[in-house]
Amino acid sequence: MTDLAGKHIVLGLSGGIACYKAAELCRAMVKAGATVQVAMTEAAEHFITPVTLQALSNRPVYGSQWDPREPNNMPHINLSREADAILVAPCSADFMAKLLHGRADDLLSLMCLARPMDRVPLLLAPAMNREMWAHPATQRNVVQLRADGATVLGVGRGDQACGETGDGRMLEADELLEDLVAFFQPKRLAGRRVLVTAGPTYEAIDPVRGITNRSSGKMGFAIARAAREAGAEVTLVAGPVHLPTPRGVVRVDVASAADMLQAVLAEAERADVLVATAAVADWRPASAAEHKIKKDGSGVPPAIEFAETTDILATVAASARAAAGRLFCVGFAAESQDLVHNAQVKRQRKGVPLLVGNIGPATFGRDDNALLLVDAHGTRELPTADKLTLARLLIAEIAQRTRA
Ligand code: CTP
Repeated sequence: MTDLAGKHIVLGLSGGIACYKAAELCRAMVKAGATVQVAMTEAAEHFITPVTLQALSNRPVYGSQWDPREPNNMPHINLSREADAILVAPCSADFMAKLLHGRADDLLSLMCLARPMDRVPLLLAPAMNREMWAHPATQRNVVQLRADGATVLGVGRGDQACGETGDGRMLEADELLEDLVAFFQPKRLAGRRVLVTAGPTYEAIDPVRGITNRSSGKMGFAIARAAREAGAEVTLVAGPVHLPTPRGVVRVDVASAADMLQAVLAEAERADVLVATAAVADWRPASAAEHKIKKDGSGVPPAIEFAETTDILATVAASARAAAGRLFCVGFAAESQDLVHNAQVKRQRKGVPLLVGNIGPATFGRDDNALLLVDAHGTRELPTADKLTLARLLIAEIAQRTRA
């Protein structure tokens, strides 16, 4: 992954047990292509040594504003000027209070205060005991820090090092990385609501058997993530898949095509964009048996009668909201041959302005894909890339086509 290629991040550590996670975060950022300059407060050095972070970042760690390694003896100016962002993780309650008052009695707080605000954003990953997090003073500080231009990331919930359970632990390294990567993406869909369907559906034959397909859901999940990165409010209606929910995305799990239809209709009322990537079953057993179907010894397989499912995409595309131009519908087509022709025919049949074609069997479960954009004017190919890269390109395309 090279999501942070070319980015230079100052990773600041203030004092807290979550410092151990900062080591993992540092490594993850470097792996994602960033160069990382670590700065630690004296309190942070009680929890983890600079040696660990120097080894992981491959750069000397800074701790003091009096560091003589800088020719002009101004590390707070030099280090903050070259950064694309300063991320303080962990950011303790005390450090938040300090930033709030513009105090600058150590290198990290000095650097945060001295940074050029218009081009060096400040991100804070709070980490503290649940009572400290819930305290009105801390919550007041969060509000004020945001008003002062900082991006205060969320906190995790669960067991805390102190033995208590609740809100306040620092997000995990992979979550912070996802938030940081998202931060740098252009906010093309800010304020918009995007609805995505993903994965297969499961149509029950009896209580233990059913019909499904090989869709992994990866493309739809990547689109949900890309839409969220672009600033949209995203709801992801997912069939049965084992994928983690992208950060900040509301997920509604469903099983059958009928469940998916219901969930989508409820959300489509307020959505601005629908991207239907789900591989919805076209047919379902007309009625699911109440009990497990048993072999009767005759050797004759049971006859299963099928009924057609409702076409979710076509239904939504025919709604008044879509007809009025308030809901932009994007379909997907998984074909096994003659992609261009089939996709063009399908776009018209579904009644959508944009249809994205791909060769199904070649893409199921894979991390990369190639897409064909089909609209009323013709086709355009998005050549093979990983699914997140393609998802971002598609989101940029949708943003451009729906620009008010
Ligand atoms: N789709 C849907 N509801 C269905 C079937 C399909 O919303 N019951 C959507 C899919 O999410 C996708 C698009 O329609 O965006 C095309 O799906 P696909 O399975 O390729 O098309 P079908 O209509 O099933 O056409 P065919 O089986 O003839 O290829």
